[in-house]
Amino acid sequence: MAFPSLWACLLIGCFSVSLAEAYNLSDLYPPLWKESPGQFSDYRVKNGKYIINPWVYPERLGMYKILLSQTASYFEKFAPENEQNILWGLPLQHGWQYTTGRLADPSQRTDCDYDSGDRLCISEDSWWADMNYFLSALPFLAAVGSDIMGISSDQVILLPPPKDQTKFCLNVSTCQSSFPKTMRKWNVFYQHLQLPSSSFEDLLKYLWAAHVSALEDVYKIFEDRLQDYSKPEADFGKSWYVDVGYIATAKFPTTLIRTHEFQKCLPPRMLVNGDRAPYISDFTKLQNIVLLGLNILHEVDNATGKPKANECN
Ligand SMILES: *[C@@H]1O[C@H](CO)[C@@H](O)[C@H](O)[C@H]1NC(C)=O
Ligand SMILES: *[C@@H]1O[C@H](CO)[C@@H](O)[C@H](O)[C@H]1NC(C)=O
Ligand SMILES: *[C@@H]1O[C@H](CO)[C@@H](O)[C@H](O)[C@H]1NC(C)=O
Repeated sequence: MAFPSLWACLLIGCFSVSLAEAYNLSDLYPPLWKESPGQFSDYRVKNGKYIINPWVYPERLGMYKILLSQTASYFEKFAPENEQNILWGLPLQHGWQYTTGRLADPSQRTDCDYDSGDRLCISEDSWWADMNYFLSALPFLAAVGSDIMGISSDQVILLPPPKDQTKFCLNVSTCQSSFPKTMRKWNVFYQHLQLPSSSFEDLLKYLWAAHVSALEDVYKIFEDRLQDYSKPEADFGKSWYVDVGYIATAKFPTTLIRTHEFQKCLPPRMLVNGDRAPYISDFTKLQNIVLLGLNILHEVDNATGKPKANECN
């Protein structure tokens, strides 16, 4: 079935319209990037271990910041200023979640909600935040386990959220035993990263394989969290999960500029009841079309089955 792949390619095409614009790259970094920890010594240390609380936005972002800086040298051959580092997709996506209110408690049962409470908290009741945990903790800890972070595997530990602690792995060894397939795929990515002969395309392939594997590992575990959202937002979450599979198959290059462009097309706030693309009045034309396209891609996928290994171009 070529239709869904074609849709994915059209959507991805729309994300690269204005690549010719000149950018000051630091303007594209996620919110609070500059203020977030950028090295292990910026975190607390206890009994010789670095303690990271991934339920606070700057601390989770800091894991990405360390990962991006520790891998920068491997991307120098592609472009200056780390712009072509394909790991940018992860922190930029997390920044979009933060900016659009998706890391808050959707049920508003706790004070981790953006209207009244702590703006920097990350709620474990947020479906987006829980899914993202496995796209931050696993790549980060796998990098530690792959010896590219400059510390050993037993030197870092993540703090659990207040409840449902058993759903989250907290250090290199427990993540390896709970999510062996995904941790291995990240490890393969980091191994190829260190090989001078690896091409940009190869690296994208291994990155997306690990990314999709993580989402597949945990989707079912957190699916019920979608109940706390409006129907349009819950549908968008499900669509996004399915559509990322197509974006992965098309090997979207998750560099700094490309991801930034891509995210301009995504919903700039949480969806509420009554939101119906392409008629959402406070969304841009592009945001409306893309949301419609993402929903259609999901419906077609649902009706026809899994993505085929097609590529654009
Ligand atoms: C880019 O932005 C940063 C931070 O706003 C600023 O310090 C720097 O001078 C800018 N660089 C250029 C080339 O405009
Ligand atoms: C990793 O976490 C597990 C479970 O919490 C614990 O038993 C183990 O000692 C930890 N390992 C390291 C190296 O911190
Ligand atoms: C997916 O298919 C099922 C069964 O055919 C249907 O009930 C459901 O509404 C579909 N979902 C979407 C998003 O199209």
